[in-house]
Amino acid sequence: MALRLGDTAPDFTADTTEGQIAFHNWKDGSWAVLFSHPKDFTPVCTTELGYTAKLKDEFAARNVKVIGLSVDPVADHERWASDIEETQGTAVNFPMIGDADRTVAELYDMIHPNANETFTVRSVFVIDPANKVRLTLTYPASTGRNFDEILRVIDSLQLTDGHKVATPVNWTKGDDVIIVPALSNEDAKALFPDGWDEKKPYLRMVKSPV
Ligand code: BEZ
Repeated sequence: MALRLGDTAPDFTADTTEGQIAFHNWKDGSWAVLFSHPKDFTPVCTTELGYTAKLKDEFAARNVKVIGLSVDPVADHERWASDIEETQGTAVNFPMIGDADRTVAELYDMIHPNANETFTVRSVFVIDPANKVRLTLTYPASTGRNFDEILRVIDSLQLTDGHKVATPVNWTKGDDVIIVPALSNEDAKALFPDGWDEKKPYLRMVKSPV
């Protein structure tokens, strides 16, 4: 069955470009982004991996480890890495799983046979420090993902885990947020002493607490 939000991200051991990795051990209490791409030596994937490598400091600032995957072997990932560096201007700086036997792809339901029987789709899993799945995304092979959006969701998850707020449409870090409907006005006064903008009883906008 497909993984759902709140499920425990399955543990696995896999060969990667940085040696064998036991996923939960490697994660070691950090956040993680586990993402699959359909195939090595393909154009859209080349741009995705290069851009993700450019975001290294952004992921590190959020305590997020990144790990990629395709069903190509590690040796192919290693040969392809030099093309990525040459064309995208940044070397891949995170491990890439060579999932030739599809162990991880099957655990995470990354092969959608009605789209393609052989290759993984563009899956993304954001996994929290407790190893719970917090975001799933599935994109088709023809559409490169927006990794800035993945950072944006991580910002929202990290903020809303720590405060009784939710983030509105197109929110980015620093924008006003929404007081969660479950919080009464009385309790909200203690948490947001400077007050809020009550557009409706269920829509209370407030400055971001951090
Ligand atoms: C690509 O990364 O460019 C790609 C991969 C598989 C199918 C179509 C495009």
